[in-house]
Amino acid sequence: MEIAFNKEELEQVEKMKSHYPSQQSALMPVLWLAQKKFGWISTELMTYIAELLHLPFSEVEGVVSFYSMYFKKPMGRYHIQVCTNISCMLHDGESIFEHISNKLGIKNMERTDDGCFSLEEVECMGACGGAPMIAINENYYENVDMNFIDDLLEKLHKN
Ligand code: FES
Repeated sequence: MEIAFNKEELEQVEKMKSHYPSQQSALMPVLWLAQKKFGWISTELMTYIAELLHLPFSEVEGVVSFYSMYFKKPMGRYHIQVCTNISCMLHDGESIFEHISNKLGIKNMERTDDGCFSLEEVECMGACGGAPMIAINENYYENVDMNFIDDLLEKLHKN
């Protein structure tokens, strides 16, 4: 896939830039847009964004390496985040993480061989009232149990 935004995405970038006093401030939302399109942030993509925003490569690289929400390697089509912070931990969050890890045969920040799933253990996602919770891509699932997760993963795998 060619590393470039299309016309609509470039318009979104311009809009983002217009919200901030400097190009630098638009970096994080632009990186997020890029990750949504390409799935992860490669060196090539960082170079493209640095040129697009007229920033030094080292600045883009610094932000990408600092924030865990930017993936430094390809992740699954479905990226599963399991919260194991206090409320979720008290509701079996750690067992849920282990369950998914064993079921898919992957550890934290790994991807299944078929590229379908990747797994990440995360801190509180602000949905403590629905603990235990997981997120898959941008969807939150609250009060989950192993059966629900098994069904969900099976359904997603068929998609
Ligand atoms: S502790 Fe899990 S969402 Fe807050």
